[in-house]
Amino acid sequence: MKPLPQNSSLFSVAPMMDWTDRHCRFFHRALSPHAELYTEMVTTGALLYGDRDRHLRFSHEEKRVILQLGGSEPHDLAACAKMAEDVGYDEINLNCGCPSERVQKGAFGACLMREPELVAECVAAMKNAVSIPVTVKSRIGIDDVDDEPFLDNFVQKVTAAGCDHFIIHARKAILKGLSPKENRTVPPLRYDIVRRLKERYPHLRITLNGGLNNLAQIREVLSWADDVMIGREAYQNPYFLAELDHALYGMPLPARDMILQQMIPYAQNQAQLYGTPLHSVTRHMLGLANGLRGARKFRQILGNGAIAKNDPTVIKEALIAISGLPST
Ligand SMILES: Cc1cc2nc3c(=O)[nH]c(=O)nc-3n(C[C@H](O)[C@H](O)[C@H](O)COP(=O)(O)O)c2cc1C
Repeated sequence: MKPLPQNSSLFSVAPMMDWTDRHCRFFHRALSPHAELYTEMVTTGALLYGDRDRHLRFSHEEKRVILQLGGSEPHDLAACAKMAEDVGYDEINLNCGCPSERVQKGAFGACLMREPELVAECVAAMKNAVSIPVTVKSRIGIDDVDDEPFLDNFVQKVTAAGCDHFIIHARKAILKGLSPKENRTVPPLRYDIVRRLKERYPHLRITLNGGLNNLAQIREVLSWADDVMIGREAYQNPYFLAELDHALYGMPLPARDMILQQMIPYAQNQAQLYGTPLHSVTRHMLGLANGLRGARKFRQILGNGAIAKNDPTVIKEALIAISGLPST
């Protein structure tokens, strides 16, 4: 196993559009001191021509935090990577795994797997522009090309440009005919392909992603992969992050009410600073009480309740729903 770079972790939360925004990351960080946290994909166009400050905003507490970029133009990516480094991001990740049609029209995401030379140019340009690490997230293949020589060629070319960390979603992407959601369930998971890649390139950091949702399975994967990235399970069942920190790093399990208490001043602060509606914060917290009595009430309070009242004391009401205390 390759020793992980300093401050790196055995597990991370995947970049997820509309999900892993900065409020979500603040909440995940409260649950897990060790998880590496990724932003949603931010396109170079959004940073170069859109509201750059809003797209790059994060709280210091979220660190270690990694910006995922979407793009395929080396100069633009380099400029965006530099912006990210300047505002304090810890790392840059290039999206070579997203199959959405919108992304394909922009000629980036998973379709970049067909163009390893271009990805290498993009990586080289970003590495030239910044001193923080630059990594790549990909699939095992796309469409009819999912053989191991195809993946090897991609990895070799991108490695030659200076990338030594690949995060691999262990299924191929079907670019025509499947929605992004189907592309996360229909193509079969092939951990064996990622495992053999790690065996062939032991000097690279290989992160396995896809379908991880329990500790036993994660421990098994960590016996051969350098680390794991968790997407849907982390979002839908966020307390899992605390359990992973406990199991892999011996951190004490935090009480859920402690986590909720921390979110109240955060939500107040965001409302004051940016006019953030409460629901923008609480929508990421709905799964915190999964499996507990009162979970349904908890979700209602932080969901519709937060929309109706827009007052951070709603979080206290949610706490009462799961602590069994009377609500008066
Ligand atoms: C709602 C949603 C949005 C996603 N957005 C992105 C994204 O912006 N960039 C990316 O590389 N992958 C994205 N993904 C894919 C995840 O990062 C991850 O690769 C995938 O969900 C498989 O991991 P899992 O089985 O642990 O969920 C998204 C997944 C979901 C569910």
